[in-house]
Amino acid sequence: MKSRGRHWDELFSAKEESQLGWYERDPARTLEMLGRVPGWEGSTVMIPGAGTSVLVDELLARGCRLILNDVSREALDRLRARLGERAGEAVWLCCDISRPLPEDLPPVDLWIDRAVLHFLCEEVEIARYFENVRHLLRPGGHALFAEFSTRGATQCAGLPIHRYGVEELDRRLGKGFRRIDQFDHTYINPRGEPREYLYALYRRER
Ligand SMILES: C[S@@+](CC[C@H](N)C(=O)[O-])C[C@H]1O[C@@H](n2cnc3c(N)ncnc32)[C@H](O)[C@@H]1O
Repeated sequence: MKSRGRHWDELFSAKEESQLGWYERDPARTLEMLGRVPGWEGSTVMIPGAGTSVLVDELLARGCRLILNDVSREALDRLRARLGERAGEAVWLCCDISRPLPEDLPPVDLWIDRAVLHFLCEEVEIARYFENVRHLLRPGGHALFAEFSTRGATQCAGLPIHRYGVEELDRRLGKGFRRIDQFDHTYINPRGEPREYLYALYRRER
């Protein structure tokens, strides 16, 4: 069976960035949600599946310190090439986010996931993902999830999807987290097809 990393490497190699099924020219909805986090600019941010997202450029422009993870080396190489000199400002990781992260990472103020968590379908992988969130996100920090909603597609990028409602995110994060905002968003992919997303923002209380 093909590894997860290889699957994503092949997808990133096969197309122009703007033709990828999740490509966003403007990460406005994420930035809008971040507007709900007081003083977020300049934060330390974990991006568990960065891909080649332009959100990275926006966060660097706002003085954020980034941990950029992805299971795909191809995606990370493309992102690094695009960032040029600014690439040196980030910490780079090529880990499967459903496995324990390296121990020596600094605690982060923000965890921003767009369209990564929903690819984890095994219970043990989902549980480990949320252990990583709890391990890395400092008390008082915020986690933002943008995942296919319960009205969304059941497949993407040739993979099955575990779709989310806020009730499940609430439950998986547990008592230490408070949901502070949420909205539904219909993303139109490069083929002109609608994809239903749930955006949900949480604060870690303790
Ligand atoms: C649909 S893309 C979204 C990329 C980016 N977040 C964005 O909004 O453009 C999913 C990304 O998650 C990465 N990915 C998928 N499964 C992963 C895993 N288990 N661990 C880390 N990264 C993963 C893929 O390589 C890909 O870059």
